[in-house]
Amino acid sequence: MRGKFITLEGIDGAGKSTQLQWLAGLLEAHGIPLLITREPGGTEFGEKLRQMLLDRNQRLHPDTEALLMFAARREHLAKVIVPALEAGTWVLCDRFTDATFAYQSGGSGLAWDRIEALEQWVQQGLQPDITLCFDIAPELGRARSGRIKQPDRFEQEQDAFFSRVRQAYLRRAREHPDRMHIIDASAPVIEIQKKLEPVILSICGIKS
Ligand code: TMP
Repeated sequence: MRGKFITLEGIDGAGKSTQLQWLAGLLEAHGIPLLITREPGGTEFGEKLRQMLLDRNQRLHPDTEALLMFAARREHLAKVIVPALEAGTWVLCDRFTDATFAYQSGGSGLAWDRIEALEQWVQQGLQPDITLCFDIAPELGRARSGRIKQPDRFEQEQDAFFSRVRQAYLRRAREHPDRMHIIDASAPVIEIQKKLEPVILSICGIKS
């Protein structure tokens, strides 16, 4: 049986990493063979690209950013994700193509249809089976990550960027209602997990 491909998304500060660890534990407790990976990254080449892409001193054109994200993704799919799924291993991926729509289009203004073209080229119809998108207002996300003070000008600008990122995630969810689940990440972490557990087990076809 082919494994399931699960992706996690959300703006920075939405609590995605905490939920990823929890979700991995839940699936492993049900005996599911699991591979945890991330984007950008997931292969040796992809991790090198990640370092360059996340370098704060690097200012890239959004086209370049999107092309590099998809170059890393092509390697990741060919060498890691697809072989794992075909071997029956489930893949839990911290961000995937929805992040390119959210950040490079929503955040940085790249045309939506350019990313659709790259998505089609690189994925040829392959999509995650389930995407959990942790949704939170940017100012709340910022407060969550420990910076509760009034935003300075730069942080305000960041909030505007992240609000566009958030809106783009919501647009993707409207366009892919079957696989994308929006989760209110403003609730306490434990509450979210309590609500999420039966939903995940049911959509993954696991008996609790
Ligand atoms: P992370 O901090 O959740 O590991 O994500 C790394 C950063 O990369 C995050 O700020 C979002 C960004 N990103 C994009 O801009 N486009 C993409 O396609 C992906 C996968 C991540």
